[in-house]
Amino acid sequence: MHGAIVTGVSKGLGEALARLLLARDFRVIGVGRNSSPRLAGGGYRFVACDLGDVAGIDAALEGPFAELAAAKPATVCLINNAASAEPVGVLGHLEAAAIEASLAVNLAAPTVIANRFCRVFVEQVPESRIINVSSGAAQSAIPGASLYSIAKAGLEMLTRSLAAEHRAPGFRAITLRPGIIDTPMQTFIRSQSQELLPSVAMFQDFHASGRLVPPDVVAARIVDRLVTADVDQGRTYSYTEL
Ligand SMILES: NC(=O)c1ccc[n+]([C@@H]2O[C@H](COP(=O)([O-])OP(=O)(O)OC[C@H]3O[C@@H](n4cnc5c(N)ncnc54)[C@H](OP(=O)(O)O)[C@@H]3O)[C@@H](O)[C@H]2O)c1
Repeated sequence: MHGAIVTGVSKGLGEALARLLLARDFRVIGVGRNSSPRLAGGGYRFVACDLGDVAGIDAALEGPFAELAAAKPATVCLINNAASAEPVGVLGHLEAAAIEASLAVNLAAPTVIANRFCRVFVEQVPESRIINVSSGAAQSAIPGASLYSIAKAGLEMLTRSLAAEHRAPGFRAITLRPGIIDTPMQTFIRSQSQELLPSVAMFQDFHASGRLVPPDVVAARIVDRLVTADVDQGRTYSYTEL
């Protein structure tokens, strides 16, 4: 039996990944505020959890992770996918509470989940893997999207730290920059004002020029190339090379 944990399964890339993994007979734990009506079946378990409530994550995941481990899976893959592009806004105009909330979902939550994953699976399961879903924004500053960029840069260091600290032969931690995907996150970003997001024209152009890739297409490449195939420990993968 193969297991997967996917965060942010209500829509977008996370929903597409969970759906495909279920179709390939993975046992899937979906984690998030909401599930999707398109996710069902005996192999699916949804764990309701607001990832902005960082202190509550361990309690929500403890039981489901232990149950999956007790079923003795041959492989387990965590995909830290959930993220929020909110709030947009230029530094100097952001509220402290919004800064805290953004970094909670996009950086603290995946770190807490990876921490629990290491405790439960890394030494116990023959092959375990963590895929941190990052963005080109980890490398390039995008005016108005600093919080998102800051968190993604930190998330990429989470991958490198996991790779440096855990030497179990079957363990891999990797980063994925998934390219530009036709999801609600892109709809949200391109509908912002120029004042809040000075770089909004770039996102409007991604859409207008037909460059957004359907989430099902991206999910299939991820499952084929990063979940079920060999990967290099600690490496950052871009969609274009999958
Ligand atoms: N779309 C792109 O072009 C693009 C480009 C580069 C990187 N990425 C990355 O790809 C990943 C997937 O993005 P996407 O485009 O599919 O985004 P999306 O359409 O906005 O979906 C985000 C998912 O994260 C969940 N989420 C957000 N805040 C949450 C919270 N507080 N607690 C629990 N779940 C929460 C959402 O659930 P709710 O329904 O509860 O909000 C949703 O399921 C993200 O890591 C994103 O940064 C996307």
